[in-house]
Amino acid sequence: MVERLAHEAIEERGRFTLALSGGSTPRALYELLAQRSDLPWSQIELCFGDERAVPPDDPASNARMVHETLTQRPFVPPERVHRIRGELPAAEAARDYEQRLRQLFPGAAAARFDLILLGLGADGHTASLFPDSPALAETRAWVAANRIEALNTERITLTFPVLNAAAHVLFLVAGADKTHALNELLAGSAPVSVIPARGVQPNSGTLTFFVDEAAAGSGEETAH
Ligand code: 6PG
Repeated sequence: MVERLAHEAIEERGRFTLALSGGSTPRALYELLAQRSDLPWSQIELCFGDERAVPPDDPASNARMVHETLTQRPFVPPERVHRIRGELPAAEAARDYEQRLRQLFPGAAAARFDLILLGLGADGHTASLFPDSPALAETRAWVAANRIEALNTERITLTFPVLNAAAHVLFLVAGADKTHALNELLAGSAPVSVIPARGVQPNSGTLTFFVDEAAAGSGEETAH
């Protein structure tokens, strides 16, 4: 899917803008992409859906995980990698990243990524939009610093206006610990404050779920 969307976007607009998810689930996808030196990397803008408020060499850093799995490969031009500078104070990192995105998407009401990869937390969060967190209410900024009380930490995240402006959104969900959140997301009626991933409703883009058997549940709970 990623390769097809990349070729389509590059054919139509000369570039492919991709927002990468953090966490552990997408590692395998990034490792697969890292084997594809043949892809048109000079026309692929690699951005991030969110970041922890840590330096890029911190074990918790999404930029570090993406570097280790993909962007350290010699065929990925460093100038095509747009990380969130988690080493800055969160609010400054958010402003800095938003400025970068506004250079990538000049004049846009909201950055319209060709593809945004998202994960799903067991608590229903996605990107760094966590239950009852302030950034859930953000309707104008493209990027927000977000206080996560449950983790006693700050994160930097794309906001719903950007997530929902995307041409394509792909959730990658794996593990039995995600079954409840996935069913709440797909078939529940909980408010976005409880299951933030329910706030991902692309304005005109597609929404796709790649779910492993464990996350899909024992069968009786299959998502509709
Ligand atoms: C992050 C991610 C986050 C992640 C989910 C699922 O920075 O951690 O953006 O939203 O996708 O927490 O994480 P796993 O893939 O590790 O289960």
